[in-house]
Amino acid sequence: MVKLHDLYFKPFVSEQKLDAIVEKMANDVAADLGDEVPVFIGILNGSFMVVSDFVKKYPKPCEVTFIKLASYEGVKSTEDIQRLIGLTQDLTGRTVVILEDIIDTGNTLEEVHRIFKNENVKQLLIATLFYKPEAYNKDFKLHYVGMEIPNKFIVGYGLDYDGLGRDLPAVYQLKTTQHMTNLVLFGPPGAGKGTQADFLKEKYDLVHISTGDVFRFNIKNKTALGMLAKSFIDKGELVPDQVTIDMLNKEVEKNADAKGFIFDGFPRTNAQAKALDELMENKDSQINAMVALEVDDEVLVQRLLKRGETSGRADDADEGIIRNRIKEYYKKTAILKDYYAEQNKYYGVDGVGSIEDITVRLSAAIDKL
Ligand code: IMP
Ligand code: MG
Repeated sequence: MVKLHDLYFKPFVSEQKLDAIVEKMANDVAADLGDEVPVFIGILNGSFMVVSDFVKKYPKPCEVTFIKLASYEGVKSTEDIQRLIGLTQDLTGRTVVILEDIIDTGNTLEEVHRIFKNENVKQLLIATLFYKPEAYNKDFKLHYVGMEIPNKFIVGYGLDYDGLGRDLPAVYQLKTTQHMTNLVLFGPPGAGKGTQADFLKEKYDLVHISTGDVFRFNIKNKTALGMLAKSFIDKGELVPDQVTIDMLNKEVEKNADAKGFIFDGFPRTNAQAKALDELMENKDSQINAMVALEVDDEVLVQRLLKRGETSGRADDADEGIIRNRIKEYYKKTAILKDYYAEQNKYYGVDGVGSIEDITVRLSAAIDKL
């Protein structure tokens, strides 16, 4: 990911891919022009990288020059008229190939056509590395297009965002969802996860997604995914990860404007953690941290036994069962701790103390993200 000024950009076209595209363009043009020696004209500033690579790959003799279009100073942008800088060469009878980094609305191209009308060239061909068909509103033919792209803002390889990013060797695309805080919340039974999740949700304006709740909701409301999940549960089988992920995806989509999510009860396996990463990636986002409440086993046992005295939950009343639940938790989550630790995303937080103390510790970890 790249940050330029206030915006985040994600990888879009790699150096290798750019290289292949430019090479193909150069070969296509060469094949069409035969023995004609063309004049390649780059439109500055954006085209400097693509022109440099293009002419290096052009397999035959050629000339290369640059022009720049600049707005007349002192003229309001609404009545913007472009002025040409740099065209000093006589182009009479020559084959001219305009090399552009990107064609968006086609306004620049219109100016180019206007300017070249009086140059008596033999032919004027247009080659562009990137082309946004959804934004283009002119009729000029584009003879060579390296890559058609969606109508999203890109940077790198000559293209800038407010002056920055031209130097990047690859191309990046603007992230449409801006920065979110997405947490995976973990804690052994009795660690106080529910209490802290409620607090984090309020403080950071996050949406709490508890997989258990999502399952119950979908099954109760007989959604397609709920029925599918139930069919596995009824057979005594585990619900496949994809079904769970699809449900979570729906929850994330329902809350498209959220500042972030707290995932609770998911992931439980490496495969699920990967699937969750993919889901977030598709939303132009990522899991920022696994936050785990760390509480000593003996403290947990005492807390749960105490809770059992009033809660009436059978699984909170028996010390053997409690110890087993705790053991199971560590057995299952150790892998996930490693998964997130490898990405420097594991934050263990001391879960012993008053609710407020623990809250302060959690906030300190999250504020650092
Ligand atoms: P036009 O709309 O085709 O005239 O394109 C105008 C200019 O806008 C291009 O030459 C680029 O300098 C700039 N531009 C258009 N789309 C992008 C983009 O996605 N990233 C960076 N610059 C862009
Ligand atoms: Mg340009």
